[in-house]
Amino acid sequence: MEEKNKTDYKSLIDLSRLPKHIAVIMDGNGRWAKQRGKARVFGHKNGVKAVRAVTEACAETGVEYLTLYAFSTENWNRPALEVSALMELLVFTIGREIKTLQKNNIRLNAIGNIDSLPNKCNLALKKAIEETRNNTRMTLTLALSYGSREEIHRAFIRMYQDVQEGKIAVEDINPESIRDYLYTYNIPDPELLIRTSGEYRVSNFLLWQIAYTEFIFTDKLWPEIDKEDVYEYICQFQNRERRFGKISEQINR
Ligand code: IPE
Ligand code: IPE
Ligand code: MG
Repeated sequence: MEEKNKTDYKSLIDLSRLPKHIAVIMDGNGRWAKQRGKARVFGHKNGVKAVRAVTEACAETGVEYLTLYAFSTENWNRPALEVSALMELLVFTIGREIKTLQKNNIRLNAIGNIDSLPNKCNLALKKAIEETRNNTRMTLTLALSYGSREEIHRAFIRMYQDVQEGKIAVEDINPESIRDYLYTYNIPDPELLIRTSGEYRVSNFLLWQIAYTEFIFTDKLWPEIDKEDVYEYICQFQNRERRFGKISEQINR
């Protein structure tokens, strides 16, 4: 009965004004497991289902870029057992999902210090990225061993080296050229950032790229997220007025 009264958000989406890029801080797996008296890893495993649901919802709607924060530079400080379980889960999931990515024409991409991942993960990831590189429907980017400050630090060093080697002039350094040195050089900035689990923080995610991103915070824990939630968040996004520093009258002229 309850189902009947639910809003059909999917039908309310204006397909001509979709966010091109949605970024997600997938949080709350540990608490979801704890609520069920299970180990944290159980939450991570169930989080994969939400990854699939959100990826499907975005691809089917026509979102071109989806970026998922899967493991931060700070997450290395978690108990070793949890870190290794997450890495195992990553290898297993990539292996299992690669066919689905191919079938759905989705390109896999990664941002972060990928070379710091265990060899097995690194190889599985690079293989999947290589195999899906010609897919065109959507780019699914996993942020792995990703930290925005590490990304910006790396960009500074590489830019400095390029100046020293005469590849670029100091006068050429500007917001557009800085972009080229970030992991996200080939991805537009996200229009929408979603964070689950009732936390209101950015946790070192895409600091440069979210300058004008719309934020949605939900109390739902990551494993509870389904396709309907994605449609609802896209509707919420479409109901906002993005002014980019201007005034309302300038936008609606
Ligand atoms: C998000 O869930 C997954 C990762 C950060 C890898 P958490 O593991 O942070 O879950 P909580 O926040 O402890 O509930
Ligand atoms: C952010 O979640 C990182 C990922 C989702 C991968 P955390 O659970 O690590 O963030 P904090 O520690 O609560 O800020
Ligand atoms: Mg967390």
